[in-house]
Amino acid sequence: MFQKASVSSFTAIAHPNIAFIKYWGNRDDALRLPANGSISMNLAELTTQTSVSLDPDLQRDKLVLNGQPEQGAALTRVSTFLELVRNAAGSRSFALVESRNDFPTGAGIASSASAFAALALAASAAYGLELSEKDLSRLARRGSGSACRSVPDGFTEWQAGTSDQDSFATSIAPADHWQLMDVITVIHSGEKKAGSTEGHHLAATSPVQAARVADAPRRLDDCRQAIFAKDFERLAFVIEQDSNLLHAIMMTSHPALYYWRGATMEVINSVRGWREQGIPCAFTIDAGPNVHVVCPADTAERVENQLREIPGVESVLVSGVGGAARLLVD
Ligand code: DP6
Repeated sequence: MFQKASVSSFTAIAHPNIAFIKYWGNRDDALRLPANGSISMNLAELTTQTSVSLDPDLQRDKLVLNGQPEQGAALTRVSTFLELVRNAAGSRSFALVESRNDFPTGAGIASSASAFAALALAASAAYGLELSEKDLSRLARRGSGSACRSVPDGFTEWQAGTSDQDSFATSIAPADHWQLMDVITVIHSGEKKAGSTEGHHLAATSPVQAARVADAPRRLDDCRQAIFAKDFERLAFVIEQDSNLLHAIMMTSHPALYYWRGATMEVINSVRGWREQGIPCAFTIDAGPNVHVVCPADTAERVENQLREIPGVESVLVSGVGGAARLLVD
């Protein structure tokens, strides 16, 4: 699978993504093999840029996030990931990892997807591995499941697979296929109580998870067809249904996870009301209180302005469909 090339310092950029059909729960936590497949869209206006520099003098890996040296859990997660790359490359050199998000870290937008997609690309290049897009997606998955979907271009689908070999994401439509926007409505920008990794562990404790997973192929098919046909009405129904199923699992896990705040429900009600009035828009919510309002590009400004009027909305970010993870060449 891996071929050696030259070894030095490389920089990659990747976009986070918003899932239309969500990943929640693993059949194998260590390998991050998901309970079900998922579909997402990369977010063009949000970017993580990561450099990996090998240094034979380092006694351990070093991580600098947005200019701040990191220790503890964040460094351990990155170092565990780099160990995978080192083992594949047959290298013992430690690395300096410098990563920067151009979106507010406190805005409650999951950055692990863009972080591990960019790290997988920069690290594999620095350690001299030449990976296909498929193998890069597989590698990114080991750092954060959703990161495998930030490797390919545009609208991407992660096929759950049954092993490390066949669990990866591919592009189902390029970024310019459909001018959709994600109007990200920030309701609370603080740290969340339970992260996704912890949530995945709890998914199986919900009696609803089996039904959600069993129905996933139907939702995936519906979402894929809606994207192919640029059928917004069909997309709106399936992404809201999928998001509600995700939160049904969270709320019925043991212990239960509640991510919504009052303003989350206000935004949901507003979006449903606007759609009844003929404005195409739909909501989807990840592991947090913030609401991603998806709409065609020509509706985004109106939706953004209306969202800003809702009490409890802290800020709004708007993004179109983003491309694949890529290396920056000096
Ligand atoms: C609700 O990919 O962040 O955003 O693999 O533990 O890093 P880890 O989890 P992560 O989970 C994402 C959960 C989600 C849904 C999704 O993006 O599909």
